[in-house]
Amino acid sequence: MKTKKLWVVAALVLFSVGCKSKPKDENEIRIGEFGSMTGTEATFGISTHHGIELVIDEVNAKGGVNGKKLKLISLDDQGKSEEAQLAVQRMITQDKVHVILGEVASSRSLAAAPVAQRYKIPMISPSSTNPKVTEVGDYIFRVCFTDPFQGKIIAKFSAEDLKAKTAALLIDTKSDYSVGLAEFFKKTFGELGGKVIIEQNYVGGDIDFKGQLTAIKSKKPDIIVVPGYYTEAGLILKQARELGLNMPVLGGDGWDSPKLFEIAGKSANGSYISNHYSSEDKDPRVQAFVSSFKARFKEIPDGLAVMGYDAALVLVDALKRAKSLSGPDLKDAIAQTKNFPAVTGLITIDKDRNAAKPAVMLKIEDNNWKFATRVNP
Ligand code: PHE
Repeated sequence: MKTKKLWVVAALVLFSVGCKSKPKDENEIRIGEFGSMTGTEATFGISTHHGIELVIDEVNAKGGVNGKKLKLISLDDQGKSEEAQLAVQRMITQDKVHVILGEVASSRSLAAAPVAQRYKIPMISPSSTNPKVTEVGDYIFRVCFTDPFQGKIIAKFSAEDLKAKTAALLIDTKSDYSVGLAEFFKKTFGELGGKVIIEQNYVGGDIDFKGQLTAIKSKKPDIIVVPGYYTEAGLILKQARELGLNMPVLGGDGWDSPKLFEIAGKSANGSYISNHYSSEDKDPRVQAFVSSFKARFKEIPDGLAVMGYDAALVLVDALKRAKSLSGPDLKDAIAQTKNFPAVTGLITIDKDRNAAKPAVMLKIEDNNWKFATRVNP
């Protein structure tokens, strides 16, 4: 509740400041960030924001980049595509940002990316995984893996580790992420001899999934795959268990939120997701990040937080190398990112402006994410 109020106020203040279009300080580097700080995906925006803030503050404490301080301008898009598009427009035309970080959800990145592309302002998505996002144009980048890879590892884990032969899919038809991930899962699962025996649909915001789950129950699949976001996934888990569906349920990074456990309670246990990292990873870089995040925000960082952090790190590295702060020069510097040591692994931006990265499978036990396996691309 407290966080929600804070974001509404922040958006209004930024709006009024933006409207006056004051001359901009030449000695600052303005970084725009847009995300779902409120709404049913609020933890996505807030966690990402925390990760980004951590980098900005660390860099500014050391004097900034090439003598200039970093200024973060954050806007709440409330988890809505139209708002995401407006936020990017406003950050570019009124706040005069040099570069943009965002969004998390693929559909919102897809709505906003054409604006950034049109104004030639580079945009780096921390964690939008749908392939179409970076296809928008040469100013659009991401620092996470993509859904063909994510779908493949969920399918491989299902077929090889869980020995599943049949699967049910429950898809959010309004989400590019959900539709894409379902398709990529289906492809690899089929190649491995598995079969999707029933597909059911929903749309984000739905709260009753009993009809779809009853249809699924009658087919007795070995597993249920729910490529969606945490609010609906939590409700689906709860209702599935209430209806006596006890097979493993699998999801992707979209389930990653502590809210999933609040919504699903014990029903979440025994499920699996693919994700960007595990906070239990012994890698010293991961542990250093987890402890500085915990010290500041009093919680274990989720996948969004780490991706926000890595996106900001990649950006800072590019800012140091860029010939100038112009959009075209910044874009070139980001595109030249090579073997950058980020928390989630080495980041190289390829010719399609994507990053090939390892992923992890996590198992939910006692309402906690337990590291199951790590998969390289
Ligand atoms: N990958 C999701 C998408 O593209 C967003 C997401 C990333 C959600 C990381 C949770 C964690 O829509």
